[in-house]
Amino acid sequence: MALRHFLTLSDLSSAELEQIITRAQELKRLQHERKIYQPFIGKVLGMIFEKSSTRTRVSFEAGMSQFGGHAIFLSSRDTQLGRGEPIEDSARIISSMLDIVMIRTFGHDIIERFAAHSSVPVINALTDDHHPCQLLADIQTFVEHRGSIRGKTVAWIGDGNNMCNSYIEAAHLWGFKLKIASPTGYEPKAEFLNPFADSAKIVASAQEAAQDADLIVTDVWASMGQEEEQKIREKAFKDYQVNETLMQIAHPDCLFMHCLPAHRGEEISENMLDYKNSVVWDEGENRLHAQKALIEFLLNAQLETH
Ligand code: CP
Ligand code: NVA
Repeated sequence: MALRHFLTLSDLSSAELEQIITRAQELKRLQHERKIYQPFIGKVLGMIFEKSSTRTRVSFEAGMSQFGGHAIFLSSRDTQLGRGEPIEDSARIISSMLDIVMIRTFGHDIIERFAAHSSVPVINALTDDHHPCQLLADIQTFVEHRGSIRGKTVAWIGDGNNMCNSYIEAAHLWGFKLKIASPTGYEPKAEFLNPFADSAKIVASAQEAAQDADLIVTDVWASMGQEEEQKIREKAFKDYQVNETLMQIAHPDCLFMHCLPAHRGEEISENMLDYKNSVVWDEGENRLHAQKALIEFLLNAQLETH
């Protein structure tokens, strides 16, 4: 099998994604039972961060330690990446010393160029365009609470951002219907939506998206790198808050998710994270288990090639 990367969800087949979600639940059980499972002693994960993170850093670093391996945190502030060393040169050197790499960066082209020059698997830990690791955790969380997501209806309320783009791919790959409600001018770009128009569509309002929803998802109004747009976005998004009134429109057992961090009083009302059908804390924890399943999948695929 050739070298596998995980830059978007579409890098894996539906069957492989299902396999990872099932495995994530098994790894979660092992971890909760405090069972030692160390298949990757001596393996090293590189973690390149050009943007801030809590969940992604902690889950990848803890996951690699639990597997018996090690993780190295590389910030662009302290490496030559921050001083302009070409990404292609960095990829050749870093991948020659490590077994697997994750990157959180700005332009999606940066991770594509890194992967093109890497000799080991590369994982997208968020770019401006995609956040596929979060979707593994979100789908695992839905499955744990409600069973299969196939045929269900999911409402994306808010910015047509990296998370929304990954939801669009997820709808196609896992076979659910995605309704997207975004303010005018903040819809997902056609290049991300059009290839998956069979399963994802834009609707006119948050209320329309919420109708018949089995899951409502939102995210911050201004993503990392858009901080200077905060004020203008607060105005544009004011009708797109997820709150208990909006949840009433959906199915009574409709779940609520948010990748976090959240801004209470903006994209969600004050108490939304602790709403009865909110599963955000499980969703956050599942980053650990889902990414362990992903690391195991990619490292095992890599071992088969050698
Ligand atoms: N959801 C998520 O990716 O969180 P962090 O930015 O804390 O990693
Ligand atoms: N859309 C958000 C997600 C953070 C996990 C951002 O890119 O900042």
